[in-house]
Order: sequence, then C-alpha cells, then structure tokens
Amino acid sequence: MTESTQQERVLIFDTTLRDGEQSPGATMTHEEKLEIAQMLDEMGVDIIEAGFPIASEGDFEAVKEIAKRAENATICGLARANFKDIDRCWEAVQHARRPRIHTFIGTSPLHREIPGLSKDQMADLIHETVSHARNLCEDVQWSPMDATRTEWDYLRRVVEIAIKAGATTINIPDTVGYTAPRESAELIRRLIAEVPGAEDVIFATHCHNDLGMATANALAAVEGGARQIECTINGLGERAGNTALEEVVMALKVRNDIMPYTTNIDTTKIMNISRRVAQVSGFPVQYNKAIVGKNAFAHESGIHQDGMLKNKETFEIMRPEHVGLKETNLVLGKHSGRAALRAKLKDLGYELSDNQLKDVFVRFKALADRKKEVYDDDLIALMHDSATEAHHDRIQLNHLRVVCGTSGPQTAEMSLEIDGEDHSVTATGDGPVDATFNAVKALVPHDARLQLYQVHAVTEGTDAQATVSVRMEENGKIVTGQSADTDTVVASAKAYIQALNKLFVRREKGKPEDAAHSA
Ligand code: KIV
Ligand code: ZN
Repeated sequence: MTESTQQERVLIFDTTLRDGEQSPGATMTHEEKLEIAQMLDEMGVDIIEAGFPIASEGDFEAVKEIAKRAENATICGLARANFKDIDRCWEAVQHARRPRIHTFIGTSPLHREIPGLSKDQMADLIHETVSHARNLCEDVQWSPMDATRTEWDYLRRVVEIAIKAGATTINIPDTVGYTAPRESAELIRRLIAEVPGAEDVIFATHCHNDLGMATANALAAVEGGARQIECTINGLGERAGNTALEEVVMALKVRNDIMPYTTNIDTTKIMNISRRVAQVSGFPVQYNKAIVGKNAFAHESGIHQDGMLKNKETFEIMRPEHVGLKETNLVLGKHSGRAALRAKLKDLGYELSDNQLKDVFVRFKALADRKKEVYDDDLIALMHDSATEAHHDRIQLNHLRVVCGTSGPQTAEMSLEIDGEDHSVTATGDGPVDATFNAVKALVPHDARLQLYQVHAVTEGTDAQATVSVRMEENGKIVTGQSADTDTVVASAKAYIQALNKLFVRREKGKPEDAAHSA
C-alpha cells in the first residue's frame, strides 16, 4: 500500500459557479459556466456546486446542462428551505450521474429574525425540508447558514435534526468570515463528538475571507474532522471571497507532513483554470496572490535569483510546474509558424482543432505584426479574445479613429455594425476613452451604468497589449466585457461593446431578478 492510499481523503467541493458567480460583477454566460464546469470536472473536483436553480431560468438551464455533461463529479444545486426551491433544484440536478441537493437556512439569531421563526418553528422546517430533499435524492447536503454565529446548543440541535431527516453531508458555513482557526477546528470537533449520528455523515467547511482567514479556517476545520472543503477558484465569492481551492489543495500537498490528507485534484491544471476564471468573471488575480498570482513564482531580487540558480529549494517550496506553470517563457514572433504556435498553446493548456488553430494563427500573425515579441501572457489574452468574440454578437466594431491633442476635447470617429447594418458617428470626450465610449453610446443608446473600467498591461514594454475590463449595470443586472489589444483605446471599445452584447442577450432572455443574491 502506498503512503497516499493510507491517508484520508478530503473531498473538494467547488462553488465557483454558485457562491463565486453570485459575487457582484462576476456573472458568467451560459457557455462560460459549461466550460468552467468541464474544467473543474477534468481537474478532479469531487463535487461541483453548479448554481442556484430557482434563481433564474438561466441558472436552472446551466445547472441542468452541467449535470448532463459531467463525467466524474457529483453535481450539486442550491435550494432554500422550501419545497419549491428543492423541487426546482432536483429538476435540474437529477440529470447528473451523481446528483446532490444542497439546502440551507440561516440559523443564527440575526438570520432567524428575518423569516420571523421561533427556534422550534425553524427546527420543524429543517426536518420537513431535509426529509423532502432526501425523498427526492440520496445525496443531500444541509447548511445552517451563519453557523459560526449560531448559539452552540441550537446549532447542535439543528444539526442532529438534519442528520435524522436524512442529510448525508453537514456543511458548517462561516458565512461572514468571522471565525478563527482554533475556533473553526473546535466547532467541527465538538459537533462530531456530541451530535448523535455524526459518525454517519461527512462534515464540510465553508469559509468566507472577510478577515483573510478563509484558507486557515478551512484547513483547521479539516484538523477538527471535516472531510469536505468548500472553495472556489481564485477565492472568488461574496464580498472578500471564499477559501481558494488552489490554496487548500497546495497546502495539503506541500505540507502533507503535518496535514496528512489527500485530494483528487490534478494540481497541474490549476493555473489554467485560474486564468480562465479570472477572464470570464472579470476579476483579475492579484499579482501577489498565493499559488496563482503573476508573482507567486517570480524571483526578482539579486539574492533570491542567485539562490535559485544554485538550488531552487532555497526560495521555492513548490515547483511552478506542479501548478501547471511552464518554466520557459519562449518568445514567439512574426516568423514563428503554425507548429510552434500549436506547441506553445498546448504548453499553456489549449488543445486546438485544426480549424481553431487556423483562426488563432491569423490573429497571432496580426498581433506579431504589431508587436515584435509575443509572450505567453499575450497568447493567453489572445485566446481569451478569440473565445469571447462571438460571431453572432449584435454589435461589432468596424472602424475606430481617435484624434488626440494636448488641448481637448478628443474626437472618436467610429463605425459599428449593428444587427447587420453599418452605423457611423463622430463623438468628442474628455480623453480618448471617454470620446470612444460616447461614440458607442451615441450609436447604441442605453441606460446601463458603467461600474468599472480597468486597464492592465499584459506584458512589459510600450508595445504591450492592454487588457481592458468593463463592468456595467442595468436594473440590478451586471455584465462584464474584456478585450486585449496593443491599442488601449481599441481594447476599451471592444470591451465596452462586448459588455453591451451580453446585456442584450440578457434582456432577450428576460432573466428574472437574481434570487441568488439572497443566499
Ligand atoms: O456562505 C454561506 O453561508 C453560503 C451558504 C448558502 C452555504 O454560501
Ligand atoms: Zn458562502
């Protein structure tokens, strides 16, 4: 028997598509959700929380489709403590090879006040709803929301009720990121020791990062006996986010000497999914973020570089390739051929069909014409642009010319193809981006409010591509757009247009109010 088979398994429950997608601005399209779910499934996530089916038609369809497609993972949907939510959730997840219903209710004094239920009334409701879920599905997870601020006696009582009613996993959420590691471990330890029937269920930990302790709290909960960690890619999630999948998985791997637990995650797939989630959510990864930040494996100072050259372990506790980072940043240029591009993209985790490669190669050549050296990050940005530029978009940018000068205003001359017809305008603004956005608005009048405009240089140098992120809001609905170009203004225009295209798709689908934001 190998060492790892002797070690206890910790299940990884990913909620990027539910708790993560629920964070304001992180909305993903249907296709993006399917793509992320497939990546999660392929990297070995045990349970994917695919969404909140009652929240909207879009959420329902996404969970249902993910359930149909998943090959390995259990597919879970979220439901509040009522029959309608639970039935809708079952309708969506029942298509999975391994379906799970996750039902929850806020049990802390503050949360009990909202529905105005007494302790006894809530206890009855928990029994009824968990029993109902269990009649539909063999795999039922129950969560007492705000567990870490729930009175101990009441928490113990409701956990026992949920187990008796048939819950197979009990998740203990630190909904507001309030707990601390010692407390997190102790809470799980006590529940397992004192609740009758606790030995028959799996205890899970779900931590938010409001005080920056989500990863530490989740790992401490494992020490206390939890065997399921709920987490998200890049720590995406409500407010300060959730426990980051990459952090707990790598911590268990690197510090296996003191935390002898295994997961099923193929860690070499971490970088790729991190990049993709950053792209589709519009939430860039902070440069110094653990494991997946741009600087996580960079060694800048002379002393560090010297040490690294002599022995990599001097300043590195894990190898970059263990998280899917390739050590080489081989530069491509305009003389690089299709084979070199294919090999490089494969290295970066993109397997392309011949037709896809043909399309990307044309874009690569256009980029290499403008930019002498094409780096890994340029290619990643290019791949993202290719993936998000949908050919059926209602609005496409045909032409943009901006005139700048030291004394404003700046002028943008623009033509857009809107529903197949050409429309042109000239607009002015306070700066080139403002003029460009005014031109778009003149051609596509709308009431959406620009919430965020962000520019990032993809690489160094004055010929670097800029990645522009735009977030817009209309009647509580939030959409994001992202684009990359060596011309910052062109990237800005494309990102803005992409966000508008998404807004129109949403309007057409008539997505109802997002009930997800009440979880
Ligand atoms: O943070 C939380 O309490 C949740 C529950 C719905 C599990 O996300
Ligand atoms: Zn949460």
